[in-house]
Amino acid sequence: MFNFFSKKPKDGGKLFFSTDIHSHVVPGIDDGSPSLERSVELVGKMKGWGLEKLIVTPHVTQDTFENTPEIISEAYGALRSGLDEAGIAIETDYSAEYRIDEMFVEQLEAGQVRRLHGDFLLVENSYIQEPYNIDEILFQISMKGFRPILAHPERYMYYYDKTERYDELHGKGILFQVNLLSLAGYYGKEPKKIAEMLIDKGYVDFLGTDLHRRAHTEMIDKYLTTKDYRRHRESLEGRIMNDELRGVSPK
Ligand SMILES: [Fe+2]
Repeated sequence: MFNFFSKKPKDGGKLFFSTDIHSHVVPGIDDGSPSLERSVELVGKMKGWGLEKLIVTPHVTQDTFENTPEIISEAYGALRSGLDEAGIAIETDYSAEYRIDEMFVEQLEAGQVRRLHGDFLLVENSYIQEPYNIDEILFQISMKGFRPILAHPERYMYYYDKTERYDELHGKGILFQVNLLSLAGYYGKEPKKIAEMLIDKGYVDFLGTDLHRRAHTEMIDKYLTTKDYRRHRESLEGRIMNDELRGVSPK
């Protein structure tokens, strides 16, 4: 029943951008959605937030999720058919979230990595330690003609006591994608604090849902009704580049 006393934000829990560039809703090939049915449900939620395009990004991680272009393409095809059958009208494309490791370097050398859109490539660090040769690999990525976007820099704990690394990496042209879930406080106080610091420094180039599961949709639903969200939105609206990745990729 309609509640006259509930205070709903002006946009009814909508995002202020319409393109998401990071999620794990391709069924069955990483730690995200386990089934096509769940994938369709999760994408339905994302559409409800006002998202009109999703570039979905399964993990490619050595020893854990050794996804090849063929595996990703096949599973993505199943997702696309499932969405069509369910009548969920939303633009989709696929890429991957590449962990910076030996497998990634091999795929990069073999021309097997798939760009996010245009020249962009979504990469992530290990959570345990910064890759020892990160600068060299970032250089190799750029030599291959890609612009690296570092996924959730606010989640790498080893940067918390040397935040100058954010200045160095961003200063070299590495773009930063912050997770909505970090801003929502889902991973704890520190990632949220660092995410807000990155906003203040003007280093947040993209936002992403990094959606894996139902618990994430519930957290984002809640976040979209908060004052924090309105504050973050004020800082980031018109600054992030998500919606530059609309339409068909130029490459
Ligand atoms: Fe991710």
